[in-house]
Amino acid sequence: MPAPRPPIRTAVFPVAGRGTRFLPATKASPKEMLPVVDKPLIQYAVEEALAAGVSRLVFVTGSSKRAIEDHFDSAPELEAALAEQGKTELLESLRSIVPGSATCVYIRQPAPLGLGHAVLCAQPVVGDEPFFIHLADDLIDAPVPCLKQMAEVYARHGGSVLAVQTVARSETDKYGIVATDPVSERVSRIRRIVEKPKPDQAPSTQAVVGRYLLSPRVFDGLARVGRGAGGEIQLTDGIAALLAEEPVFAYAFEGRRYDCGSKLGYLEATVEYGLNHPQLGDAFATILARLLADRLRRS
Ligand code: G1P
Repeated sequence: MPAPRPPIRTAVFPVAGRGTRFLPATKASPKEMLPVVDKPLIQYAVEEALAAGVSRLVFVTGSSKRAIEDHFDSAPELEAALAEQGKTELLESLRSIVPGSATCVYIRQPAPLGLGHAVLCAQPVVGDEPFFIHLADDLIDAPVPCLKQMAEVYARHGGSVLAVQTVARSETDKYGIVATDPVSERVSRIRRIVEKPKPDQAPSTQAVVGRYLLSPRVFDGLARVGRGAGGEIQLTDGIAALLAEEPVFAYAFEGRRYDCGSKLGYLEATVEYGLNHPQLGDAFATILARLLADRLRRS
């Protein structure tokens, strides 16, 4: 029997993007710090990675991203004040943001040269092991956290695993698009991957969303590929190079994705997470129903 595959220890969070779509909200604060109800997007991301068994959290940051480091750091003065006021639940919610067993590493991407370049910046920390990449603006609500589902696919098939979902053909130019051969119900093997193809040139409507489990050999490809779509070093092009050498699987994850990189997707997530919130959900549903009824009456 082959030896069991070692667990994935590292998750990389590329958080150097400018977030221009949310200006002015993101002028001085990173888009990854936008809250959905009561937690910033990057905290959902970290919780998902921790649930998949990760112990090293690698943030690839850029300018104006200090708030992310502060968020995952301890806050002795705030904690002391909460303790003094007896606000133990809030205190616990702060202390449990990152468990003591996990390490946070911050790497600065020196220039905004693209997602592939950001991932390459993490190579010295990731080393020669498979690793996750998580794009925080793709928020996924799932019965089993998406990265954990992908780790299970990796345990069965090895190689690399990309999370995919079917999108409208008119949307292919927003995503990496894959052409695949079926393996099992939710798993297929990728033959080709293209970054943001026009609808009439897309090889399928299966789009890569912001979750990757990659073999470290992707770094060789990333170091070789030049600037691609949009003049940036694309992760997709590094994966295209990897495909020629190792199996890369597409995994149609279970769960619902919210594109929090767009205002509408972000609003949708806020409403859905608000409705599902254990303390606020019922009251929020009442408010929402009233607002909608008022709106319908007026129209
Ligand atoms: C990036 C990737 C793209 C992927 C997408 C998922 O694009 O380049 O391949 O499909 O994330 O959200 P971006 O959204 O950063 O333009």
